[in-house]
Amino acid sequence: MSFRHLIDFGDLTRGEWEEIYNRCQDIMDHTKDYMDVCKGMIQGNLFFEPSTRTKFSFQTAMLRLGGSVFGFDDPKSSSTAKGESLKDTIKMVSAYADVIVMRNPKEGAAKAASLYSEVPVINAGDGGHMHPTQTLADLTTVQRFRGAIDGVSIGICGDLKNGRTVHSLIKALAKFENVRFYLIAPRELAIPDYVRAFMQEQHLWFAEVTGLEPVIPRLDVLYMTRIQRERFIDPLAYERNKGIYVLTKRKLERAKKDMMVLHPLPRVDEITLDVDDDPRAMYFEQARCGMYARMALLMDLARQGHRKTEPVEIGTNPLCENPNCITQAERYLPPLVKKNGGSLCCAYCDSQLTD
Ligand code: NCD
Repeated sequence: MSFRHLIDFGDLTRGEWEEIYNRCQDIMDHTKDYMDVCKGMIQGNLFFEPSTRTKFSFQTAMLRLGGSVFGFDDPKSSSTAKGESLKDTIKMVSAYADVIVMRNPKEGAAKAASLYSEVPVINAGDGGHMHPTQTLADLTTVQRFRGAIDGVSIGICGDLKNGRTVHSLIKALAKFENVRFYLIAPRELAIPDYVRAFMQEQHLWFAEVTGLEPVIPRLDVLYMTRIQRERFIDPLAYERNKGIYVLTKRKLERAKKDMMVLHPLPRVDEITLDVDDDPRAMYFEQARCGMYARMALLMDLARQGHRKTEPVEIGTNPLCENPNCITQAERYLPPLVKKNGGSLCCAYCDSQLTD
């Protein structure tokens, strides 16, 4: 089997997800049995962007498996502040660690890192693009507490343009049968074109709507997200959209008695505090599931050992025009292209390429 990273949930087959989930269940029920599984292994955490849950859950996951963790959570304290390239940082850290967990503000950064790393790279969020391990937490919660993911009607609400957890979740849910998606967002925060093209290509059932209340009664899962302030180029656009969706106890009255409310957290104001005590509010449980799901993932990826990397072509001019794409910042990256929904896309950030 070829060397595996986790960059995009599309990298996993449904069978691989099921293996991770089954292991995760066993870890949840018999955590102590796993305390030496990654004994002697070292995880390098490169957090170029703020994080609470993802960073702590990856740290505690590795510690619970008997391994150790080093890294930074402020790039100002690393050589990046001196102008070091992502390539060089990854080359170095992959010599020290057995697995790299990276969060970076640039879209496609994890894919770029995987080209140079001798050890598996796990994408802990690349700009507004993808966040596959949050999706592990999301799916684990639905599978464990609902019993099945097939057939679920899910409302995904909030900033669907910039919310990376949303893009990964849609990619993952495409692997299941008869999922119905209600995509609830103001028009200017609708899903990016590449996600829509993917959904069309996969023949997924989806409705893009602007109102939360009319669709609430139809949902089995409501996935709330915050408006991603830090991704807005125009501060007025943030002001226009902040506070646009707020889930309250009153709105929940119209929901199914067993609907699950999920949220990747952090919450700003999109779920009122009085919802927290409703049995349908599963977001803190979801964060807990995330640690166990990451344990199951680490067991799988971190134990692959080191590999020798292939030489990588040196790029000269980025093909991709997305200003947030990693190829715009790290200009030596080779131009990589892939097909999505019939059109050519940047293989780092998925943006459609203009010819
Ligand atoms: C999310 C993220 O970082 O994308 N948080 C997380 O990892 N749990 C969601 C968010 O920041 O809104």
